[in-house]
Amino acid sequence: MEEKRENALEMGKEKKAQDKESAEEKGRRAVILLFTRISFVDAMYDVKDIKLAEQGKLQLGWAEMHMPALMVVRSELEKSKPLKGVKVSACLHVTKETGVLMRTLKAAGAIVSIAAANPLSTQDDVAAALASEGINIFAWKDETQKEYDENIEKALKNGPQVIMDDGSDLHATLHKRKKDPRIIGGTEETTTGVIRLRAMEKEKVLRYPVVAVNNASTKYLFDNRYGTGQSTVDGVIRATNIFIPGKVVVVAGYGWVGRGVAMRFHGMGARIVVTEVDPFKALEAVHDSFEVMKMEQAAKVGDIFVTATGDLNVIRVEHMRSMKDGAIVSNTGHFDVEIDVTGLRKIAKEPKRIREHMQEYKMPNGNRIYLLAEGRIVNLGAAEGHPSEVMDLSFCNQVLSALYVYENRKDLQNKVYSIPKEIDERIAYLKLKSMNIGIDKLTQEQKDYLSQWSHGT
Ligand SMILES: NC(=O)c1ccc[n+]([C@@H]2O[C@H](COP(=O)([O-])OP(=O)(O)OC[C@H]3O[C@@H](n4cnc5c(N)ncnc54)[C@H](O)[C@@H]3O)[C@@H](O)[C@H]2O)c1
Repeated sequence: MEEKRENALEMGKEKKAQDKESAEEKGRRAVILLFTRISFVDAMYDVKDIKLAEQGKLQLGWAEMHMPALMVVRSELEKSKPLKGVKVSACLHVTKETGVLMRTLKAAGAIVSIAAANPLSTQDDVAAALASEGINIFAWKDETQKEYDENIEKALKNGPQVIMDDGSDLHATLHKRKKDPRIIGGTEETTTGVIRLRAMEKEKVLRYPVVAVNNASTKYLFDNRYGTGQSTVDGVIRATNIFIPGKVVVVAGYGWVGRGVAMRFHGMGARIVVTEVDPFKALEAVHDSFEVMKMEQAAKVGDIFVTATGDLNVIRVEHMRSMKDGAIVSNTGHFDVEIDVTGLRKIAKEPKRIREHMQEYKMPNGNRIYLLAEGRIVNLGAAEGHPSEVMDLSFCNQVLSALYVYENRKDLQNKVYSIPKEIDERIAYLKLKSMNIGIDKLTQEQKDYLSQWSHGT
C-alpha cells in the first residue's frame, strides 16, 4: 500500500514536471495529478492559464456566499454521496456559478467533465480553479467554432452516464452518432434546448430521458426573467457604456426573457418598443405600457435592439438598412442566429473594433451600426451572465434533476420530463428560508373550500 502510494507520488511529480513544460510550451494544455487525502484524482484539462486558479477560487467563494440554497443541497449530498462514481458530462457557460454547481456535483460523488456552452462565455479564472480541483474541463474564453466543437468532444471522452446541457448541443452531438448504452439520461437548462429535445421526442429519436430544468417554476420565472433582465442590461452597458434614460430600446420577443429585459431597461428610463409574433404576448406588452409594432417600423426608431426570441433571422438586413446612424444591435437569445450577422457582413464595410465586444459596421448608406458580442448571447459574451442569487435557483434544479434522472433510471422513458413539483417547491422554500421569509400555510378549512363546488354566493 505504502509502496503503491510512493509510486503514485513519484508518478505525480514526474507528470507535474512534464505538464509544466507542456503548459508553458502550448500556453494552456496540461494534465495534472492531484493527491488528495483519500485518492488520486486524475484531472484532464485544457484551459487558458492554470495560474489563474487562485483568482478563480476567490470568485467561486464569492458566488457560494450568494447561493445559499445550493449550499444546503450540497451539504446534504456530500454526506450521502448519491452520485458516487457517476460520470457526468456537462456543456454549460463556465461562469463562477457553474463552478459552484460543478463543486456540488463533485461533492455528491460524481466524476465531472465540462465544456463551454458558448465560445465567448467562459471565465478563464474559474476554469483554471475547477481544473485545479480535479474537474475535467475544456474551455476558454474566445474559442473558435472548431475549438468549441473539439472541446465538446473532449468533455464526452470519459463515457458519461448523465448529460447536463444548456442549449442541447451536447444532446444533439450524441444523437448524431452511434447509440451509447452507458448514457442513463440528462438535463437541459434553457428554452431553446428544450425546444430541440421536444423535436427529438416528437420524431421518436430521443434515446434517453431528459429533465427540462427550464420548465421548473424556480427556473424560468426567475432566471429567464429577472436574471436575463439584469445581466442583459449589464452586457449592453459594459460593451457600450451608453446612457440609458430616454433611449428607445427595441425588445424582440416578449416571452420570459423579453419581459425581463424590457422591465429592466424601462426601470432605467428607456422607452420600450416590443416586437412579437404571438398576439397574446403582444397584448400583454401593450398592457405593460410598452409600444408594440412590427420590426420594419421598430428598426427606424430604435437606439438599442435586443433580440430575445430563440428564433432565426429576427433582425434581417432589410431592417438594418433602415436603422438610424449609431444603432446598437445585440442578442440575448441562446444561439447567434437571431440577427443576420452573415448578411450584415456581406453588405457592410469591414467591421471596425471600437471597444471590446463592440464592432462598427458601415452600411452602404453611410450609417453606422454597432454589433455587440458578435451577435452572440450578450449577457454572457460582454458581461458575466446572471448574478449568483438567481443561478442559486437554476442550479439547485440542475443538480436535483441529475439526481432524479439517476435515481429513477429504471422507470423513466425516452421522453422530456418536467421537474417534479415537490422538488421545484422544495427549492422555492429553501430560497425563501435563506432570505428569512416565512409564508402562510393553507388551513384544513381553506383546503376543503378550495376543492369543493357547492359553496357559492
Ligand atoms: N441570455 C440568457 O442568459 C438566457 C436565459 C434564459 C433563456 N435564454 C434564451 O432566450 C430565448 C428566449 O427564451 P424565453 O424563455 O423568453 O422563451 P419564450 O418562449 O418564453 O419567449 C420567446 C418569445 O419570442 C417570440 N418570438 C418568436 N419568434 C419571434 C419573432 N420572429 N419575432 C418576435 N418575437 C418572436 C415568441 O412568440 C415568444 O413570446 C431562448 O433562446 C432561450 O434559450 C437566454
